[in-house]
Amino acid sequence: MIHLRHAGKTFGNAVALHPTDLEIPSHKTTVLIGTSGSGKSTILRLISGLIEPTTGSVEINGEKLTRQTLPEIRRRMGYVIQSGDLFPHLTARQNVLLVAKELRLPSHEIAARLEELCALTKLSNDLLDHYPLELSGGEQRRVSLMRALMLKPDILLLDEPMGALDPMVRAGLITDLKSLFERLNTTVLLVTHDLVEAARLGDHIVLLKSGRIVQQGSFAEFSLYPAEPFVCQFFDAQLEGVPS
Ligand SMILES: Nc1ncnc2c1ncn2[C@@H]1O[C@H](COP(=O)(O)OP(=O)(O)OP(=O)(O)O)[C@@H](O)[C@H]1O
Ligand SMILES: [Mg+2]
Repeated sequence: MIHLRHAGKTFGNAVALHPTDLEIPSHKTTVLIGTSGSGKSTILRLISGLIEPTTGSVEINGEKLTRQTLPEIRRRMGYVIQSGDLFPHLTARQNVLLVAKELRLPSHEIAARLEELCALTKLSNDLLDHYPLELSGGEQRRVSLMRALMLKPDILLLDEPMGALDPMVRAGLITDLKSLFERLNTTVLLVTHDLVEAARLGDHIVLLKSGRIVQQGSFAEFSLYPAEPFVCQFFDAQLEGVPS
């Protein structure tokens, strides 16, 4: 469904993503993992059209992303950026409804969808009138998710949706996201640093290093057939410091 065709991105002399070929399957969850600065967010930004590739192209359902095709394609995507994407001066409800109001969707439809989203993301209705600063980190991430899901996107892009949450909240949110993805049957592309998150959520995992794909496949394939020593180093690093 989403194809990167030799898509690369440079900023001046710095290479954020070397020319890359990648297919992201429909109705599945693909997880991008890798070290900091390896190009994960760059891939999401390219797919969302926030930035344009320096080389190659991005295709969504066989349609190339261009300035002309972007607005229509973008409307079918939900995107949660890496951190703090809620408007601080708007309540949770206003944040979630921003685009729907702009598109002048009928108010009964909006109200029904809001109910549905609270149930889906397990956010208590009472919190909808809170401003982002009056919500916990986990609650804020749920509101961001609700906003991304408001227009029933075909594609959901999530950049570290659980970054900086405590392990208990994180574990709960992973479980909720897993059942959410199963129910939605959407194409999901999720970025994380966390192997447990990748293993639990990813049907397909893509490991990046310095702007290149090192290996991709199922979680089991990574442990059974590591493509290069870096794969083992990356996996081992996550377990370092845990007393045996
Ligand atoms: N607008 C920009 N201008 C210059 N360099 C950039 C820009 N955006 C990204 N980069 C560089 O491109 C590289 C890849 O960045 P990217 O944000 O994709 O990394 P990442 O894998 O998401 O890292 P993290 O896990 O820390 O979020 C980094 O070295 C970064 O400094
Ligand atoms: Mg990033």
